[in-house]
Amino acid sequence: MKKHLLTVAALSSAAALLASCQNKTAEAPAPAPAQAGLTQLPVSINAAMVALTSQAADYLFAPGNGDMPRNDRDWGLVHNAAYEIMLAGKVLQIPGTGQFDAQWTAVDDWKTLANELTDIGSEAEKLAAAKSTDRAQWQALGDKLVQNCLACHDKFKPDTPSQGILHGATKRESLGESIFPTTSN
Ligand code: HEC
Repeated sequence: MKKHLLTVAALSSAAALLASCQNKTAEAPAPAPAQAGLTQLPVSINAAMVALTSQAADYLFAPGNGDMPRNDRDWGLVHNAAYEIMLAGKVLQIPGTGQFDAQWTAVDDWKTLANELTDIGSEAEKLAAAKSTDRAQWQALGDKLVQNCLACHDKFKPDTPSQGILHGATKRESLGESIFPTTSN
């Protein structure tokens, strides 16, 4: 009998818990309207430009400049870079912590150029997936890419990066060395 009572007690407290949960649900404020998505980058557009866009673009310029991937690992780097450029075009449409970020990302031309970057990345992704060693095709892609960078820089880039972040010329670039790691495999 005692056991039975306990069970009843347990059941009724479970019911009470359930009721209080239901009450909470009923009392909860109406859910906030769906968020518009990611609204703020944790870094400046200047940082995203250097760390993501420019860094990835270097791998997409390489094959057109005759620095062809030599193995699956190299192709993996190029393929990843293509995805990064696709992402960069979208990331650049979200303002970050830079002084002019909100201003820039609100302009239609900015959005158009950024979306174009994603499209070029998508073309590169197809070439990379096919492991194309057609240098002319990579050159054409590199030309499109650099024109996109320059078009946006002509229009928006201040003389001095707003956050002071510069893409330092690397030793590799000045010496014309391969972007791909030297050790094989
Ligand atoms: C949608 C516009 C836009 C596109 C597209 C764009 N950039 Fe930028 N980029 C900027 C702006 C604006 C800055 C300056 C940011 C700042 O100072 O806050 C910048 C800064 C940079 C910087 C850092 C400053 C420096 O001179 O070292 C590098 C590097 C860079 N961009 C490379 C590229 C490359 C490479 C591409 C193309 C693959 C590219 N950008 C495409 C707008 C763009």
